[in-house]
Amino acid sequence: MKIVAVLGSPRPTGNSNTLAQRFLETARQQGAETQVFMVNQMQFKGCQGCGSCKTKTDYCVVEDDLTPVYDAIREADLLLLASPVYFGDLSGQLKCFFDRFFAFADSDFSSRLRPGKKAVVILTQGHPDGAMFADIFPRYQQWFNMLGFAETHLVRGLGLGDPGAAAARPELLAQAADAARQVAP
Ligand SMILES: Cc1cc2nc3c(=O)[nH]c(=O)nc-3n(C[C@H](O)[C@H](O)[C@H](O)COP(=O)(O)O)c2cc1C
Repeated sequence: MKIVAVLGSPRPTGNSNTLAQRFLETARQQGAETQVFMVNQMQFKGCQGCGSCKTKTDYCVVEDDLTPVYDAIREADLLLLASPVYFGDLSGQLKCFFDRFFAFADSDFSSRLRPGKKAVVILTQGHPDGAMFADIFPRYQQWFNMLGFAETHLVRGLGLGDPGAAAARPELLAQAADAARQVAP
């Protein structure tokens, strides 16, 4: 299985990255091939709304550090997105990245991606109440569904502030590993 991980936290050893790494380590132990991109370390633009991907091409015409990430996603079996919750959503870095998924949809909004891919979303937040920001995953899940993803899964870390907090929460590390065993067997 080919896994592409896109990490949205600016903190390299932060909570979402820690859980993502546990997921990836477990998947690799099971034979998965993994490729990791940290969007905060890349130079890129958000969607320019130019419409070229609907009228002229079947890909995003903006060429920057994200271009190889979209190419890798086309080839991948599983996409892992990991993000801190920032103001009730993905980090801005990851939202810009996600907006350019527009080019994965044809002019009639049918998907240009091979059907059957899996998506795993890891979200970490400071708030300890799981009812807070529970809307984020379903909002993105609907776009994954539109793009023909067959499965979408969520791992959430609640009450995580300092970058090292997730590493000290064995139950969250176990959830990330379990998710990998389930979706990347
Ligand atoms: C700009 C910013 C906005 C944040 N917004 C929220 C929020 O809306 N809800 C929340 O529970 N935590 C919020 N937090 C806390 C982070 O989501 C939390 O610390 C998370 O575990 C950080 O993940 P990371 O270590 O992977 O970067 C915010 C933190 C920052 C820096």
